Amino acid sequence: MKNKILRLLYQRGDFLSGEEISQELQISRAAVWKHIVKLKEEGQQIEAVTNKGYRLKRPYRGQAYGWELEDRFAGLESGLWKELVFEETLDSSNLEAKRRIQNAAARGEDISGTVVTCEMQTAGRGRRGRRWESPAGSGIWVSLVLKPDIGPDKASMMTLVAGMAVRKALSDLFPLKAGIKWPNDIIVDDRKICGILTEMTVEDMEMTGIVVGIGINVSNEAFPEELRDVATSVNMAAHDKEADRASILMCLLGAMEEYYERFLKTGDLTGLMDEYNEHCINAGRMVHVIGVDTDWTAQAIGIDRNGGLRLIKEDGEETTVSSGEVTIRGVMGYAK
Ligand code: BTN
Repeated sequence: MKNKILRLLYQRGDFLSGEEISQELQISRAAVWKHIVKLKEEGQQIEAVTNKGYRLKRPYRGQAYGWELEDRFAGLESGLWKELVFEETLDSSNLEAKRRIQNAAARGEDISGTVVTCEMQTAGRGRRGRRWESPAGSGIWVSLVLKPDIGPDKASMMTLVAGMAVRKALSDLFPLKAGIKWPNDIIVDDRKICGILTEMTVEDMEMTGIVVGIGINVSNEAFPEELRDVATSVNMAAHDKEADRASILMCLLGAMEEYYERFLKTGDLTGLMDEYNEHCINAGRMVHVIGVDTDWTAQAIGIDRNGGLRLIKEDGEETTVSSGEVTIRGVMGYAK
């Protein structure tokens, strides 16, 4: 019943009286009120005005966010994005995308162009086996299914392509200055606003798909102690309390399509690396290069066409490192 009321409010997009709701759903006005209270407790912003009724305010949460995404996705003009999957709760959108690729492959189908997203993840996955906090309502947790005609050794390049798309979407929509920390963290005010985890599905030694998982912190007002100095959100960086996840996601899909097409022209980052380097916060700076047993300092130049980071070592020699082999830290802190 609660969701039926939410649906009516979402569809109206304006005030709907308690009387209209009670008639439409054949329940008492008191019951309508009880469900509205519950919806508000769940985080929906519902305005109640005497003589006018109830109005669902954006940014939407829960199922209403899903309906908004579905409506906007249906109106998206795209040659790449074919299907949107929205669930209120997933363990991880990357895991769900991989399950869907595997099930489709068993039927001989290819589901590239599918976008899997949700309101919250119970087991969000970060890089290097870390957990990614993904509470309800506070961010965009999305996995993009792609199947470019490239070798598995090039799959990690999709992470850099996605990083460029996130940077562009956030910079186009909000008054903030976003940069990319190689290979793929999006940084605003020296703090991470977005992380990307690219995974591959393989069947009988053949790549069946690439899943690009993107997590963007949107409406967090604060972070736990251990993340306070390294994490930020759109709300905190752009002071935009109305930051609307559906618009960010649609803008991101548009940008991703554009960069992905440019990537496909050469099957590497040849057509993208200049723009990437322009926004790469490490380029031109001293960095710590941290490997399994090593930690050395070098000056970063920027990426090459394979997405490796070009470095000048202390002895003046140039070298390139790949994202699988090392981690980079600024010498002045996480991103500085
Ligand atoms: C990182 O550690 O920086 C990468 C974080 C990636 C998080 C996103 S949220 C959507 C997708 N689903 C997951 O389980 N992880 C990625």
